[in-house]
Amino acid sequence: IRAAVIGGGTNGEHQVSLASAAAVAGALDPARYQVARLTIAPDGTWRDDAGAPIGLAGAVTVLQGCDVALPIVHGPRGEDGTLAALLELCGVPYVGSGVRPGALAMDKWVTKLIAGALGLATARGVLLTAATARGYAWTGPVVVKPVAAGSSLGVTLVRDESELAGALDEALRHDDRILAEEVVEGREVDIAVLGELVTPPLEIVADGFFDYEAKYGGGTEFRVPAPIGPGALKALEDAAVRLYGALGCRGVARLDFFLTEAGPVLNEVNTMPGFTEHSQVPRMFAAAGWGYPELLDRLIRDALA
Ligand code: DAL
Ligand code: MG
Repeated sequence: IRAAVIGGGTNGEHQVSLASAAAVAGALDPARYQVARLTIAPDGTWRDDAGAPIGLAGAVTVLQGCDVALPIVHGPRGEDGTLAALLELCGVPYVGSGVRPGALAMDKWVTKLIAGALGLATARGVLLTAATARGYAWTGPVVVKPVAAGSSLGVTLVRDESELAGALDEALRHDDRILAEEVVEGREVDIAVLGELVTPPLEIVADGFFDYEAKYGGGTEFRVPAPIGPGALKALEDAAVRLYGALGCRGVARLDFFLTEAGPVLNEVNTMPGFTEHSQVPRMFAAAGWGYPELLDRLIRDALA
């Protein structure tokens, strides 16, 4: 099977996407897969296996010469449907969600509306733009975040009104639409869905805010499976499965929740979650008895079906 593994990308998660793509490419059994690596440089240049610039037309030629593509690019212009659109137009089967679920899930405001329509709880929040952010009236601590970004880039936990203006500016550096959300008190728990399969949940035992540094600095402990009672577990699984289905996801999605006394509160959905062997998704599948290469095999098999 000729498999194109795409990594990199033009957003702030470029390095994370490189790490995810390298792990995926490295785990594909060479006896079964002939891997072509494609990398999108921070400036948008497509590069081949050897790092040579090949242009979009060159990338399309590589992709159309492959049986399947694995677009392992997080964040805007990767995970948000743009890469899926390219692969659709190339006519090459690919791993993961299509254009619509990618675009919907990348938009944290739209995700909140859809979750709300399904009766799932999310943090109370307001949508702000550059034009309206200055008019935001402080009512208490909030999390300020770009509508479309990942790895907590541009996200600030604002505990004091004096930090609000800086946080709004920082979020607006990443997107022209931002959210100010009430802080949810609860355990941070992720769960992954792959087709009919739901993984055991994973708890992030973070001391404070699980920000970019905590995510990739290596200091954060995961508890998997997260110790959760049967009632709360069922509620979490149901919420994840319903939202995965409503968005129309394919492949693996990781759905991030806060577990509160009143039940699960959705934080966000990742249609191309972190994919190094140490990332949450492979850890959750490992807890379900799946090896990392096995998980990739299954994703490719589904893409080719
Ligand atoms: N956005 C990062 C890669 C994650 O969700 O794991
Ligand atoms: Mg995310």
